[in-house]
Amino acid sequence: MARDFIVTPWEVKGEVDYDKLVKQFGTSIISDSLFNKIKKHTGKLHYMLRRKIFFSHRDLDILLNEYEQGKKFALYTGRGPSGHTHMGHIIPWIFTKWLQDAFDAPLYFQITDDEKFLCKPKLTKEETKKFSYENALDLIALGFNPKKTFIIIDTEYSKTLYNIAIQVAKKVTASNAKSVFGFTNETNIGMYFWPAMQAAPCFLPSILSGEKIRTLIPAAIDQDPYWRIARDVAPKLGYLKTAAIHCTFLPALTGPKGKMSTSEGMQSTIFTTDDEKTVKNKIMKYAFSGGKDTLEEHRKHGGNPDIDISYQWLRFLEENDKKLKNIYNDYSSGKLLSGELKQILVNKLNNFLKKHREKKQKAKKQLDKFILKD
Ligand code: TYM
Repeated sequence: MARDFIVTPWEVKGEVDYDKLVKQFGTSIISDSLFNKIKKHTGKLHYMLRRKIFFSHRDLDILLNEYEQGKKFALYTGRGPSGHTHMGHIIPWIFTKWLQDAFDAPLYFQITDDEKFLCKPKLTKEETKKFSYENALDLIALGFNPKKTFIIIDTEYSKTLYNIAIQVAKKVTASNAKSVFGFTNETNIGMYFWPAMQAAPCFLPSILSGEKIRTLIPAAIDQDPYWRIARDVAPKLGYLKTAAIHCTFLPALTGPKGKMSTSEGMQSTIFTTDDEKTVKNKIMKYAFSGGKDTLEEHRKHGGNPDIDISYQWLRFLEENDKKLKNIYNDYSSGKLLSGELKQILVNKLNNFLKKHREKKQKAKKQLDKFILKD
């Protein structure tokens, strides 16, 4: 059967049907009762939960039941340092920071310089190392607690990780890796081993503490195939199965489909390193519009926020529900024009990025406090 979309950790193509994907991956949609269970502990739901940007999970109910019985959990997420950080990467990290504060949980953050060296033919080890440190600053700039946040750069924490990864790798066959990740005979052998390295931090909090600690992974749903492997092997190695909470993708600027990623081209992506002028140019020139062709038609019939990328991005970035609703209504009624909507997004992004750049500068001095060494 021909698939109209593809989601793997390395590629997202086509218009993702999230209901279908949940079935394909075997994850669960977050139910209203589960939303309420989260709310019981956090007071208010984060806007990414209220808007169902985080929409799917594995064993989040079990993790919260355990939490209610007084059992602590650890957060785990990460970044593949193949280039500058873009706004899509930032989305799950903003949410992770909220989880860290709401549940007072430690965060283990894996930076996979080995993965990106192995899977990107043109990248050198030096480049992936350089981006590891730069990407780490983007994470720190979001305000994570230095006492509770542990950044792992794979090639610099390899002694510990490798010892966990070989235990995982021994339980995963090549045919399993082929079916989960789509590896072929042409895939280099480093990549066949690599999923064991991404599974390893699922068990790290247990290993470091000597207690059985469940991990919760907030990330976009593209990373879920790794958790299938990690969850399969967990009981065989005497660990708890990792839990996960998944978000949808911040779409590419250029179209209503797929995810924003560097491989979609510079014009479809906003990087945290983009200056104000670049942000404005990209949005004005490339952000796919749900507006009508002429001013008269737009005023008369209104635009379509559901396909308009500027509006879609504001769903991911504007915390204030009332503001967002007004934008939706004004755009749908034709009161707000496409150019004006784009300008709202430009302002939102440039405000965020201005502060982010300053915090990133300060983060340089803090870096040592965050990096885990072995
Ligand atoms: P990477 O660098 O591809 O992505 C980092 C994080 O960003 C998420 N993401 C997005 N979220 C929303 N919208 C988008 N357009 C978008 N693009 C990327 C990814 O889901 C991810 O959460 N192999 C991993 C690094 C890694 C990792 C982990 C990620 C190691 N351990 C644990 C998550 C959890 C990678 O290359 O991520």
